[in-house]
Amino acid sequence: MPVSTPPVPHPAQAAHPPVPGADAAPAAPRVPDLAALDLTDPQTFLDVDPHAMWRRFRDESPVHWHPAGPRTPGFWVVSRYADAVAVYRDNKRFTSEKGNVLATLLQGEDSASRKMLAVTDGVRHREIRNVMLKSFAPRVLEPVVAGVHAHTRALLGRALAAGRLDFVSDVVDHIPIQTMGDLLDIPHADRPRLVEWNTRTLARHGSGDDEFESLMARNEIIMYMGELAAERRRNPGDDVLSTLAAATVDGEPLTEDEIVLNAYSLILGGDESTRTSLIGGLIALAENPEQWRRLKAGEVSADTATEEILRWTTPAMHFGRRALVDVPLGDRVVRAGDVVTLWNTSANFDERAFADPDRFDVGRSPNKHVVFGHGPHFCLGAFLGRVHVKAMVEALGSMVDDITLLGPPQRLYSNFVRAYSALPVALTARTAPDHDTPTRTGKEN
Ligand code: HEM
Repeated sequence: MPVSTPPVPHPAQAAHPPVPGADAAPAAPRVPDLAALDLTDPQTFLDVDPHAMWRRFRDESPVHWHPAGPRTPGFWVVSRYADAVAVYRDNKRFTSEKGNVLATLLQGEDSASRKMLAVTDGVRHREIRNVMLKSFAPRVLEPVVAGVHAHTRALLGRALAAGRLDFVSDVVDHIPIQTMGDLLDIPHADRPRLVEWNTRTLARHGSGDDEFESLMARNEIIMYMGELAAERRRNPGDDVLSTLAAATVDGEPLTEDEIVLNAYSLILGGDESTRTSLIGGLIALAENPEQWRRLKAGEVSADTATEEILRWTTPAMHFGRRALVDVPLGDRVVRAGDVVTLWNTSANFDERAFADPDRFDVGRSPNKHVVFGHGPHFCLGAFLGRVHVKAMVEALGSMVDDITLLGPPQRLYSNFVRAYSALPVALTARTAPDHDTPTRTGKEN
């Protein structure tokens, strides 16, 4: 889920924000007039019931003009599934090169444009994507997948021994970063540093001057990647960084910026989004006892439950594009140069595309969500994202009996990621022997 300039998450001041689709009785939904909602303000996503808000957008103003702010231009808000898919698919009339999230789109530019995959279009996008795709084929990733499963089970085993824990810092923070470390073959001794930089990049525990902190941390990662890339040029291995460093397109190597920014985007894009889906998945299972029972009893497959957890959590709330020409969309016309934001967090709950969308149903099928986007920029790490969620689903189903939330999840402050900084829980172990894993792994009927 890479964006070159990450949003600035910030510990939520609100201690008890609404959880998407939580079954527990939500606080009275408060949806002001659509015209009064400020989607550039992260606080909006803590204050307003997201289901009620997005339902109103979809019903009343599906292609909605969001007014300009004091320092930002206006932009389109696309909330229906079919409209979002149409824009994602159309990289001829909508470009990612002026940014792909609100933060950069509203600035009018992205510093990684035409270097990092997510903010590059056309021929160069295909060339870099083809280079990277080789490292993301499921067969190539087999050892990485085995590592994710082993690591998840080991961490969950430790969590069960502890009984009470913070699911974020004790478990989830340690999983995807290790996967990205394996993919890029980052020396084990350096990984804790990367975790710390990544944490600071996302400003998870700071306040006030977080933006500067986050910029410094981002620079540290980029400098680190630059040094590692130089080393891989001298001594190539079979990791993604070596692949990028050794790659040629029409006989020409990738530029230094292309190598470093694309390696960096894997750390940043792969880590936060995956952690968010794991954390949100545990919350959903804890709050929906019947669905947790079905999973434990093996009544649904781990694959199907994985897709529903992804839909339900939709970690990347939006992405966006800039229109290159006038394009009719719904009953409106988007003008050349306009910013268009695509709200996955609404599209995945669109009653026109999903039956009973506000119900968390681990057996949901079909489930064609847009968690990983759609079209030419479809997430390169989708397979890996799914692997992480499935590993957690299988480990929880086979090892855990009871999940109790010990306090409200602490949400981060962002209009881009639906992320968490803490989740106190109590887990109790299953008494059934571990090898009697009940969770089916085949596809549902
Ligand atoms: C692109 C979401 C995991 C790497 C995207 C996009 C979305 C997304 C929505 C499309 C962006 C756009 O259209 O502008 C997610 C979610 C994840 C996840 C929700 C986890 C649950 C990962 C992982 C990696 C990764 C694990 C790397 C190992 C990328 C890359 C792109 C991308 C490189 C750009 C693809 C392109 O532009 O061609 N992701 N992602 N993502 N993601 Fe992910």
